[in-house]
Amino acid sequence: MHDVQTMEVAARGRGPVVQNWTMTFASRLGEWRSAGGSLAQSLARAVQNAVLDGQIPVGSPMPSERALARDMDVSRGTVVAGLALLRDAGWIETRHGSGSVVRLPPQLTTRTTPWSLDHAAGDIEFDLTQAVTAAPYQTYLAAARRAVDRSATLLVDAGTATAGLPQLRGLLAERYTQQGLATTPSQILITSGAMSALTLLVDHLCDRRRPILVESPTYPGALAVLRRSGAPLVSLPVDAEGWRRVANLIRSSRANLAYLTPDFHNPTGALMPGDVRRQVGAHGDRHDVTVVVDETMRDLDLRTPPAAIPHVAGPRVITIGSTSKVIWSGLRVGWIRASSALIRELLLNPLHARLSSPPLEQLIAHDLLGDLDEIVCERRTQLRTQRDHLVNLLDGNDAWSYTVPLGGLTMWLQLHNTTGIALAAQARRRGLALTPGPQFSVDRTLTNYLRVPFTATPEVLTRAIGLLTSPPT
Ligand SMILES: Cc1ncc(COP(=O)(O)O)c(C=O)c1O
Repeated sequence: MHDVQTMEVAARGRGPVVQNWTMTFASRLGEWRSAGGSLAQSLARAVQNAVLDGQIPVGSPMPSERALARDMDVSRGTVVAGLALLRDAGWIETRHGSGSVVRLPPQLTTRTTPWSLDHAAGDIEFDLTQAVTAAPYQTYLAAARRAVDRSATLLVDAGTATAGLPQLRGLLAERYTQQGLATTPSQILITSGAMSALTLLVDHLCDRRRPILVESPTYPGALAVLRRSGAPLVSLPVDAEGWRRVANLIRSSRANLAYLTPDFHNPTGALMPGDVRRQVGAHGDRHDVTVVVDETMRDLDLRTPPAAIPHVAGPRVITIGSTSKVIWSGLRVGWIRASSALIRELLLNPLHARLSSPPLEQLIAHDLLGDLDEIVCERRTQLRTQRDHLVNLLDGNDAWSYTVPLGGLTMWLQLHNTTGIALAAQARRRGLALTPGPQFSVDRTLTNYLRVPFTATPEVLTRAIGLLTSPPT
């Protein structure tokens, strides 16, 4: 395996190593000639794919044109044309006097849209089934580098699962306290994301003889965790207007556990009003229902200006959170906020070690969460633009109605003339993948709904909605 440093040393003049790298470079492009288009375009596309697959690391030196032409068995002219395409698109950077290096183009590294969303495989051109964003590129890389430097003291210790790094637990406790929910570090347990947190809590708290109360629609990942518990699920209807029956259902459902997402609910984007938040806290306590509140979307507030959101609080309320929406799904760090006594119990649960987060990830999360304002601000600006663009595209079409979401990542369309399954199937045949309503439903209803994320760029959203609305051919 060549690391970038070795290759840069190689590029500075150790002849045979340079030659090896040129051959390695050429071999990592695979069967590039079969890709279609001109040879130069195929070559450029093959280099892009090899960079994205990690075969050619970002920062690698580009072999010389002459060496590439020889090892790839093409004319120098083809190589020159291929490299010009790559240079124009920002995939290679030429430094005067010291050759070219592989880069990722700024149009990829400065957007919140993941690369795979508009470069999906096979017959799918745009994959809008997941509501996820790319990482804040430069900020994340810098944090990851600092985290490596700071990991020295961790390396001399055991590395086994704990409740989490003290500095991260401390930071999260401080954040809750600043937001009006007094919290000590002993009330925080770090997990590998919000769904790991939910898995651990359900394993620990679920009584299969009593139902779990869950919003419908809700995030399908959470539904999957709750279904595996074996407890019956009772659905709590949520629409853009909110959670009208929540107090009633907490009182009457016999549930011992409820799972709620009051902050920019996935998929509707709804925000639970303050009075309902207070009712949830009070009724959970009065009726012996432990309420797990998922705050994963909390920071994706798209109101202008964003306003403070009170936490749902009460003696029976447990809060879970995650870095996966506000920073990146690849950063597997989430947490549970509960009583110190429950945190101590959870540490004894055998699942805890399996669901904990690696220490280096926690260091990265600590770095980024400690200085989140810029990330959040940029993310909100891009998402707001994309949401508004999507609303413009959908507006005036009587095939659907919707409420503009106040936050989150998705729009929830109520369809008037067809079902979500039929419309998603039609879109799929045209190369657009979307998730229909029943996947968000406790009992596979919500058939007249479709979720459309606004995690794509405005250009992609325009083309996607074009595919959704074009008449049958
Ligand atoms: C409400 C909600 N919670 C949690 C998650 C994912 O959490 P994590 O990746 O931290 O497990 C999602 C992802 O879409 C979500 O919508």
